[in-house]
Amino acid sequence: MKHIAFIMDGNGRWAKAQGKSRQDGHKAGFDNLVEILKAAKELGLESVTCYAFSTENWKRPKPEIDFLMNIPMELYKQRKQELLDTKIKIQFVGRRDRIPAHTLQAIEQIEEDTSDFTGFTGYIAFDYGSQDELVRVMNKFLNDPLIHQVDEALISSYLEVPTIDLLIRTSGEVRLSNFLLWQSAYAELLFVDTYWPDFTPARLHEALEEYNERSRRFGGLKE
Ligand code: FPP
Repeated sequence: MKHIAFIMDGNGRWAKAQGKSRQDGHKAGFDNLVEILKAAKELGLESVTCYAFSTENWKRPKPEIDFLMNIPMELYKQRKQELLDTKIKIQFVGRRDRIPAHTLQAIEQIEEDTSDFTGFTGYIAFDYGSQDELVRVMNKFLNDPLIHQVDEALISSYLEVPTIDLLIRTSGEVRLSNFLLWQSAYAELLFVDTYWPDFTPARLHEALEEYNERSRRFGGLKE
């Protein structure tokens, strides 16, 4: 077990249940993201990928989009020292051509400040869609005169996120929502009812135990 991916769903419903605003929900989700990254590193994982903003999330109301576009800056301002102290490398994955300049600037600063850390990477999927990622890779192939044929290994090597072992979606929804489709080909899938802000490090620990109990055969026969 090296790499877990999270679809951090349910911030809005969590907030509603508490009589709070959707923005409060995303803020709580953001705080939880930092806690889960720290816990995952502590548990000995190599990487975690979190779905923070999808290529489809541009359809949300503008105030909510604006709030989510400010989150990288907030991450930088509020939790920078903590990320540096815990030696977590942060890499954003997804499109960079549609997000506002101030967001892009914050993203590049976070990546630069944490770029020397090795051992654990937190990938934050932001304006990310798996189909969009694959389309971008295919266009690179088409524009590269040296590539005449592709295979699975070549495609994997062009993707921004490595293969995942376990995919967890919170809040009871049972969909992949265009997240890491290639990388999750053999992943174990776990759908939990908990809303993302309530998905604690203790629950992560339980999820790892559940993963270890499952038999992974990769299409072969059980030993
Ligand atoms: C899904 O909940 C959550 C999102 C679309 C945003 C996730 C963002 C964070 C957890 C903040 C961290 C972000 C960064 C960039 C570090 P929802 O709004 O769909 O909830 P609902 O389905 O209950 O309405």
